[in-house]
Amino acid sequence: MRAHARWRRRRPLRTRLALACTAAVALVVLGVCAAAYTIIRYELVHQLDLNLTQQATLVRQQNRTEPPQVLHGECAYLAAPPCTQIVPADPAADPAAPYVLPINRATREVAAGERRAFYTKITVGGRQARMLTTYAGPGKAVQVALRSDTVDQGVRQAGELMAAVAATGVLLAAGLGYAVARTGLAPVARLTATAKRIAATRDASLRIELPPGHREDELTSLAESFNTMLGELEQSVAAQRRLVADASHELRTPLTALRTNAELLARADRLTDSQRERATAGLQRQLREVTGMVNDLIELARDEEPLPLVEQVPLGALVEHCVGAARGHWPTATFAFVDLADGRTIPGVPARLARLVSNLLDNAAKFSPPGAPVEVMLAADLELTVRDHGPGIAPEDLPYVFDRFYRASAARALPGSGLGLAMARQIAKAHGAALTAEAAPGGGALFRMRFEAR
Ligand SMILES: Nc1ncnc2c1ncn2[C@@H]1O[C@H](COP(=O)(O)OP(=O)(O)OP(=O)(O)O)[C@@H](O)[C@H]1O
Ligand SMILES: [Mg+2]
Repeated sequence: MRAHARWRRRRPLRTRLALACTAAVALVVLGVCAAAYTIIRYELVHQLDLNLTQQATLVRQQNRTEPPQVLHGECAYLAAPPCTQIVPADPAADPAAPYVLPINRATREVAAGERRAFYTKITVGGRQARMLTTYAGPGKAVQVALRSDTVDQGVRQAGELMAAVAATGVLLAAGLGYAVARTGLAPVARLTATAKRIAATRDASLRIELPPGHREDELTSLAESFNTMLGELEQSVAAQRRLVADASHELRTPLTALRTNAELLARADRLTDSQRERATAGLQRQLREVTGMVNDLIELARDEEPLPLVEQVPLGALVEHCVGAARGHWPTATFAFVDLADGRTIPGVPARLARLVSNLLDNAAKFSPPGAPVEVMLAADLELTVRDHGPGIAPEDLPYVFDRFYRASAARALPGSGLGLAMARQIAKAHGAALTAEAAPGGGALFRMRFEAR
């Protein structure tokens, strides 16, 4: 039993589909053949019964006026004309000659009008026959028999023919079932082959080939979804590779500077005090930069927000807190914050959201001239805008500012690695918000982000 269950589980889909198709078609073929056989048999027997009824009526009409008597037909060989006899209800009125057709109590009852007419299968002179016993006027019954072996033979032949047709039909169904399963599952076979090839080669650029002008069905749409998924996978693999390449490229410069300073300090005895101090300060600054960059990279490489840390965050309070922190970092800048959100909350990770807002505030303060105000506003519909009065972002830089490591040429003199906005956009996306940059009317940069309250 268990082995059977295991076989059922292991049996490939193609076999199961072929079996299902075969069973369905075979069932229909068998059903149709059985129905045809039943109808043919019924028609043949019915024809015989009609003949018997006609003959009985004829005999009854001929004997209407005469007293009950026994008629003997050509019963020896039961050829047409049919074999007939008349049987009285009273056995005392029986003729002297013996009856040629079998009689019993039921025959007498029909003669007495106590029983309805009936058909019987009998054997006369070694032949199969069908006999009708029916009422033939007061006190007598007429019995008519006709040979039925030809009918039986016809029924048998019809049965054999139908069995042959059914067998052929089942064989054909099996062939068709196999063919249907094979052609129907061809895309699945292609899909499996591609999946196996990808697993073996780890090449996400492979795709399932769909024949040109293919029909839209569940399987092709599965193949298309699979291709789309492969496309996403390829992109994400490429993005990861790019990130690693960019990161190693970007880390090279500060690491070289670090090494230079470290080598310099290794020969500290040959340096003056001020040279040593400069080298130490440079080393510390570069170490901080590299640490910051590595941390940013790790955050960027993490894609989704960890679910356990998600909570309802009051956005107004969070931005307020970030603005306070920015005031501490950037004493020369002035921050103005307007909160119209009325304490509304969004689901999110507070630390990451704070990172996002701080990145925007840091940029605004970094790129603004000293004393220029940074205007932060949280609208009632939870749209957060950060606007500064600095040089703004040149139109040719706008499409790229959210790319990793991208810094406009004007910004190269300022500290930074170009990861801040990439991270900000990633955090925004993870929170279901779109972060965009634009030129503020009247100069400066304007960053805009709309959250969905849930
Ligand atoms: N408020 C702004 N005004 C003008 N230019 C900006 C502003 N914010 C960003 N940019 C431009 O977009 C670039 C990318 O910003 P991003 O925050 O990603 O990097 P960064 O500030 O240079 O470095 P990091 O944030 O990693 O320290 C900046 O180098 C700058 O050219
Ligand atoms: Mg920045």
